[in-house]
Amino acid sequence: MAIGTALLGLLAFLLGCSGTSAEPQNSERSAMRKCVLTGNWVSDQGSKMVISDSNNSGVFSGSYLTAMAATDNLIRPSPLQGVQHQVDQRAQPTFGFTVNWSFAESTAVFAGQCFLDEDGEEQLKTTWLLRVEVGSVAEDWGATRVGTDTFYRTK
Ligand SMILES: *[C@@H]1O[C@H](CO)[C@@H](O)[C@H](O)[C@H]1NC(C)=O
Ligand SMILES: *[C@@H]1O[C@H](CO)[C@@H](O)[C@H](O)[C@H]1NC(C)=O
Repeated sequence: MAIGTALLGLLAFLLGCSGTSAEPQNSERSAMRKCVLTGNWVSDQGSKMVISDSNNSGVFSGSYLTAMAATDNLIRPSPLQGVQHQVDQRAQPTFGFTVNWSFAESTAVFAGQCFLDEDGEEQLKTTWLLRVEVGSVAEDWGATRVGTDTFYRTK
């Protein structure tokens, strides 16, 4: 999978540099490609994640290193577990994953979609919920935060 992705990247690079009249339009080029979750990503905020190959059911795992945290604890990489939809049929798959923070009693879930832009560059558009552990049900009202993050493939 990694080699295939590298070859596709090389092909896109060669197509982009050929400058001939046979060069496909950007939209045609991205239509030929698939957005692939596997690899290294960095968010607008500087959070980093590594996603493994998905198996045939679309199950994947990885690790997440946040740049932002609702804790004063030392931030460490934390495991993530997810599922993407329709692995083989979808060029721009939807997915979801859970981050099991290894340094805080908190849980985050992300839902998103893997997109190819007009230049064939991949980005992950996500919305997340972060649940912070609180001491009692009286504090429940403020225990969940919501946000969005866009991830770009690390070069
Ligand atoms: C994918 O991985 C999950 C979790 O390990 C497992 O339950 C599932 O059976 C696997 N599916 C395939 C097709 O390998
Ligand atoms: C979740 O995090 C806890 C605490 O770090 C760890 O013991 C556990 O193995 C993790 N589970 C998964 C599935 O990542």
